[in-house]
Amino acid sequence: MTKNWNKLIVALDLDEKNEIIKVVKALSPRVTKFKIGPIAFTRFGPSLVKTLVKQGKDIFLDLKLHDIPNTMKCSAAVITELGCWAFTVHCKAGQAALLAVSEEVRTVARKNKLRKPLILGVTELTSSHSSQEAVLKLANQGINSGIDGIVASAWEAAAIKAAAVKIGKKILVVTPGIRGIKDSVGDQKRVATSKTAFNNGADYIVVGRPIISNKNYLQAAEDVLSC
Ligand code: C5P
Repeated sequence: MTKNWNKLIVALDLDEKNEIIKVVKALSPRVTKFKIGPIAFTRFGPSLVKTLVKQGKDIFLDLKLHDIPNTMKCSAAVITELGCWAFTVHCKAGQAALLAVSEEVRTVARKNKLRKPLILGVTELTSSHSSQEAVLKLANQGINSGIDGIVASAWEAAAIKAAAVKIGKKILVVTPGIRGIKDSVGDQKRVATSKTAFNNGADYIVVGRPIISNKNYLQAAEDVLSC
């Protein structure tokens, strides 16, 4: 039996509104977490986020903020006001920026009586052949800056968890680059199956094309979760 539906985040990397609606409808209510990245956001903007939040979906806004502290903190405030469940920043932005974002998000959420979105720090993209050492260096920066989670491949998930435990902290690990055995890898390099990701300690997996490029979205999601 397929488990882990609550740990699956489906990437809505589509620029057709009808298709987005179709994917969300087909996967609901099993899937509750959807990721909106630059493709859908540049086309449909905050209104798409608001629509899906209103429908009760957990929205992960993946804009990978990477800028000076003030710009990042002000953008994070708007994301918090949108009611997102999670959003991404680049760990490469540095500790000052990550700390500013953490503080601002907490303040804005409290002031507006909103749930605080999870702040997820992107390390090295899963489309690169980066070393575990490079990923861990960035992950440690995130862990020490008050953010909630780290985005990395399944290959580094266990090491990131261990690094956090070592300094008495808890960190979520979110892993893209998930592929079933028969799926095309595409531009991803550090790939793994969902089982490997969960065995390595991933709290959530992010899956896009293996699901959204299929005709039967729900079956494709079940297939990804089964291997
Ligand atoms: O289609 P696929 O499953 O490769 O999609 C993965 C999603 O996760 C994409 O939306 C991509 O932008 C995002 N992502 C990633 N690697 C990261 C961070 C985010 O693939 N390190």
